Amino acid sequence: MIFCLTAYSQDNKNKNIKEMNILIAFFSATGITHNAAERIAKATEGTLYEIEPQQPYTEEDLNWNNNNSRANNESKIRDMRPAIKALSVNVADYDVIYLGFPIWWYTCPTLIYTFMEATDFKGKTVIPFATSGGSTIRKAENDLKVTYPNVHWKAGLLMNNVSNNELLKWINQ
Ligand SMILES: Cc1cc2nc3c(=O)[nH]c(=O)nc-3n(C[C@H](O)[C@H](O)[C@H](O)COP(=O)(O)O)c2cc1C
Repeated sequence: MIFCLTAYSQDNKNKNIKEMNILIAFFSATGITHNAAERIAKATEGTLYEIEPQQPYTEEDLNWNNNNSRANNESKIRDMRPAIKALSVNVADYDVIYLGFPIWWYTCPTLIYTFMEATDFKGKTVIPFATSGGSTIRKAENDLKVTYPNVHWKAGLLMNNVSNNELLKWINQ
């Protein structure tokens, strides 16, 4: 297995970005991360895929001032797995997956864990990106790494106010 993983990453190293199959999978409750995902899709010529909750979020669901709002409950209880619509994408077809989400309570929504567990990411290269009201992506990156150690995680990017140059630099890394 170690051999397979090494061979896989060597293989990716020798491909340039145009030769890779790139998926941009994102969850966005109010559209901001959706815009960020579109920018990445345009820059990489990758396939855009929206991770959709089975039950859409209402404004009240997203009210972080209400201790008992749906989003707050889903954030506090880290082993919650909010239902998502059945995947209509085959992650196995992609070399690289950009994974986007809004920062909720300093980390990723647990719905992202539902997505991670809906298919096999073992050995895949996954690159997180996020939007927020100001918090960094670092805690989300760390939580994802700890929760899914079999994934080949690459440095993420908080997309708030990111210029096109900064975006391209990150993509080309
Ligand atoms: C329940 C909830 C918790 C949030 N927690 C944070 C937070 O901890 N830090 C932060 O900077 N922004 C926080 N935000 C703001 C969102 O990260 C921000 O508005 C994001 O860009 C929304 O992306 P979207 O439109 O793709 O859903 C929170 C928003 C919600 C709804």
